[in-house]
Amino acid sequence: MIFKNISVKNFYILIFLSLFIVLNFSFNSFSQTAGQVPGSSLGLNSDADLWRYIRQGNSGDSQIGQLGSELSAVMIQSEGDNWRSIRNGPLSRYGAYGLIGMLVLLAWFYSYRGRIKVAKGFSGETITRFKAIERFSHWLMAGSFVILAITGLNMVYGKFVLLPILGPDAFSALTVAGKYSHNFLAFAFMIGLVMSFFCWVTHNIPSKLDIEWLKQGGGLFSDDAHPPARKFNAGQKIIFWAVMLGGLSISLSGWALLFPFETKMMAKTFGILNMVGFNLSTDLTPLQEQQLQTIWHGIVGLVLIIIIIAHIYIGSLGMQGAFDAMNSGEVDRNWAKEHHGLWVEEEDQKANDTGKDGIKQPAE
Ligand code: HEM
Repeated sequence: MIFKNISVKNFYILIFLSLFIVLNFSFNSFSQTAGQVPGSSLGLNSDADLWRYIRQGNSGDSQIGQLGSELSAVMIQSEGDNWRSIRNGPLSRYGAYGLIGMLVLLAWFYSYRGRIKVAKGFSGETITRFKAIERFSHWLMAGSFVILAITGLNMVYGKFVLLPILGPDAFSALTVAGKYSHNFLAFAFMIGLVMSFFCWVTHNIPSKLDIEWLKQGGGLFSDDAHPPARKFNAGQKIIFWAVMLGGLSISLSGWALLFPFETKMMAKTFGILNMVGFNLSTDLTPLQEQQLQTIWHGIVGLVLIIIIIAHIYIGSLGMQGAFDAMNSGEVDRNWAKEHHGLWVEEEDQKANDTGKDGIKQPAE
């Protein structure tokens, strides 16, 4: 026998070598020859039509079924590039201009006008401006808004401003905590918004008085001008409607971001806009819907923050006696007469009609 004198060790080496030769031949028979690959692979040949199809954002089939095949099987979505460049480009740039512009404007106004004083000085007598429910609604809306604003600003500007200062670990921890707060406080804001709407909507219907108030610049530029106003003046009505309409819009887009891929709000909105002369595509993929929602959410958020900075200024540092209205609910009568003269008359009239004990008096 030929293998009779082969040691066990050499026998294994022989087996290994034979296997190597056999496998090598078989692999060679499947390897590339001049760019051709057996089977259905294309090898070095590019299928231009296939890549063009993919580049144009078309979807294929995917085994990642969780998000639905249409979402998970898109390999290249060019709108994603547009989305990122708008978010990191014009959105953050003009947002920053607006925020800095408002701070500069307020600093200038403060240096020009100082703190607006109660011209006649405090009378020492107060009048109830806001009941507990009104103050609760305001602070629920305001407190949540301030945290939503700070955490939202971090999502847009944090990577440029805080990341280089804090480093990746601390920035990441802060941003994750901020994102959770943002998600959950959104509900507090929505509740505060609805409550404030019902508390104040009847006092915020525009009237002729508002035009006069605006013509006199709200008396903001002089100690002597006190244009007549009821419970809310024209400036406050503008803030009210900006907060209500902006708040509604930011809540709807925020809802679409909290529960993704469930609405077609953007396509529907574009459809409505098209009826008044726009020419916007209503054939949006679910991913485009989400991207447009984040852009819109960012724009409305930044506009609201810019407006609210002015509101916070005038409700605190900018005007003597204003903060009391939302703090204790009681304001000085002289303050009230100077800024809301007609409202004081109405309140006095009501008090006369009902008497001190709150019981309505018979008409004389
Ligand atoms: C965090 C600081 C804030 C301060 C110090 C503040 C202060 C005030 C004060 C004093 C008033 C009553 C003004 C009056 O008696 O006529 C008021 C009203 C109001 N606040 Fe605020 N506020 C703050 C934040 C906010 C925020 C974040 C929002 C909305 C997102 C908001 C929305 C409103 C609205 C709609 C009114 C009624 C209309 C008006 O007076 O402009 N406030 N606030």
